[in-house]
Amino acid sequence: MAPLSVAVVVSGRGSNLRAIHEQAAGLGYRVSGVVSNNPAAAAVAYARAASLPVTVVDHRLFADRASFDEALAAALAEFRPEIIALAGFLRVLGPAFVRRHAGRLINIHPSLLPAFPGLNTHRRALAAGVREHGATVHFVTEALDGGPIIAQARLAVQDGEDAATLAGRVLALEHTLYPAVLGRFARDTIPLPAQTP
Ligand code: GRF
Repeated sequence: MAPLSVAVVVSGRGSNLRAIHEQAAGLGYRVSGVVSNNPAAAAVAYARAASLPVTVVDHRLFADRASFDEALAAALAEFRPEIIALAGFLRVLGPAFVRRHAGRLINIHPSLLPAFPGLNTHRRALAAGVREHGATVHFVTEALDGGPIIAQARLAVQDGEDAATLAGRVLALEHTLYPAVLGRFARDTIPLPAQTP
């Protein structure tokens, strides 16, 4: 069977992109392309060095979110993705984009959702005194960080741990969790919508 086509959408560092790409062959999917809104992202440099097809859709060149979303959708369609994986993508997608890709648009978030949606999750988790923290892969809906949860990876917060250490330990979990979820889509243990976008 042909490997599942995954397009990865990034804005920054790209460590999840790297993990997704490095583990692709063993898990039955392939990275068919990378799209970034940020031309200077380290993720773009990684994708180019790894010979992955990359398209930059710079949000600063668009008058509004709807026209950016439209250009992003067109760039993604070129890669014929069965799954669109947001990996450190820092823009909020509008309702038309989200609806059009429903069921095949997923994101990774650095907390155990529904706890700590939004930014600064590690600092907030420590401030709240939680004993358990982690990462979540979820379907993207119009609710920010609020779509149905697909899988989570968790760890025990250590006494006296700071946000940077915690972030590093959660990130290491992300690097196994996200590829594993893509592998589940590839093996059909998570169903995809019949219709391609
Ligand atoms: C990760 O912590 C991810 O959970 C969040 O943004 C960060 C992206 O890191 N959505 P990277 O660009 O994959 O290194």
